[in-house]
Amino acid sequence: MSGTLLIKNKIKKFNKEIKVTGDKSLSIRWVLLASQATGKSRAHNLLMSEDVLAAIDSIKKLGIKVKIYKNYCEIFGNGINGFNFKKNLTIDAKNSGTLGRLILGLLIRSPIKIKLVGDKSLSERDFSRVTKPLQKFGAKFYYKKKNKLPLSILGSNSTKGINYLESRGSAQCKSSVMLAALNSTGTTSIKARKSRNHTELLFKYLKIDIKVKKTKKYDFIDIKQPKKIPSFNYQIPGDISSSAFFIALTTLTDESKLLIKNVNINSSRTGIIKILKKMGAKILLKNQKNYRGERISDIFIKSSKNLKAINCSSELNSSAIDEFLIIFLIAAKAKGVSYFKDIAELNQKESPRLDWGSKILNMMGVRTELTKDSIKIYGQPNLEIKKMITIKNYLKDHRIFMMSTIAALTCGGKWKIYDMDSINTSFPTFLTIIKKINKK
Ligand code: S3P
Repeated sequence: MSGTLLIKNKIKKFNKEIKVTGDKSLSIRWVLLASQATGKSRAHNLLMSEDVLAAIDSIKKLGIKVKIYKNYCEIFGNGINGFNFKKNLTIDAKNSGTLGRLILGLLIRSPIKIKLVGDKSLSERDFSRVTKPLQKFGAKFYYKKKNKLPLSILGSNSTKGINYLESRGSAQCKSSVMLAALNSTGTTSIKARKSRNHTELLFKYLKIDIKVKKTKKYDFIDIKQPKKIPSFNYQIPGDISSSAFFIALTTLTDESKLLIKNVNINSSRTGIIKILKKMGAKILLKNQKNYRGERISDIFIKSSKNLKAINCSSELNSSAIDEFLIIFLIAAKAKGVSYFKDIAELNQKESPRLDWGSKILNMMGVRTELTKDSIKIYGQPNLEIKKMITIKNYLKDHRIFMMSTIAALTCGGKWKIYDMDSINTSFPTFLTIIKKINKK
């Protein structure tokens, strides 16, 4: 199933309540950590998207038993480094950078070579950002094409903790090294630019010996190798990155309201809320509670007529890293010129997202000034598209599909958006929820 979406009309005003699917970062981390625990772990509301199913398939190939039921998933962990597999094993991370990069951290003791492959998009992405630190632990890597997938990893039986500086603000790099620390003697010390901290919170919850010292820009993390990880149950909260599309849809649709239930609003992920509020969006957090170190809340959004441009502080970049496409769309409808800087990382995602964001706005008739690491967006509060817009050949980047859909539903014009199946990587129910919102 590939599929093309045609949109000819804007969405009508609405007042609805929705639930988005489980957080992708937490779902993948739960699968990987449950595979290292001893005994049966259970997760409710695990995201059943292609990225997470690829994680489940990978640990199954590594000898871990998994049972998927209608409402929950069980993983029967075999202890740290308890994988059990035969020669010539290939693991397929498909579209998922998080899976591809994190799982390598769990394989640094593998006595035989394991091959890691991915889809076309993942095979364009840089893996040296994780293989370099993992080499320091003692693992060896074999590339066909420099720093790209497919690669093979051969572990070592004498992996030792390392000192590591993570300077991009990448949670994938940080987490890959943190998982490797589980398999290494002594202490691993990480100095990491701020990024999402789900792995740290899970380690703390699992009573792994982890110390985190926070400063304004960096976190200093020390991890001692644990003897054992207890099995654990987890209720995965809704994904703020999926919610972001509906926050934008509501903000840009006149006379509308939306309540999104039970979303993870961990402050390392809420850049979208901070940025949009500064731009004049009406977003309220209701029923906040704590869950195992994470913060969870309902998000209430009302449409906003007076959006204004933002000169976005780069301190907010890492907490909004997956949301910039949709933020650019809001900027396109805001009064004034918005400026986003130090965002070169966006071109390292499932597609070159900074370039694509600019390209889509230009197709919509919005002027941009693009550099390698920044964009200026000349907002048009009264933007009404009258022409036909076709979105294709975008490496099936799920977030480009969803951003284009929201643009079509809020800015008018006739849109033809290819590769509908791209949403299956992170948010398979995206279009079903749109239908629900659009129903009288
Ligand atoms: C993720 C980290 C981010 C993000 C990705 C998920 C994670 O990537 O873009 O979608 O779960 O750790 P980087 O670490 O490369 O910034």
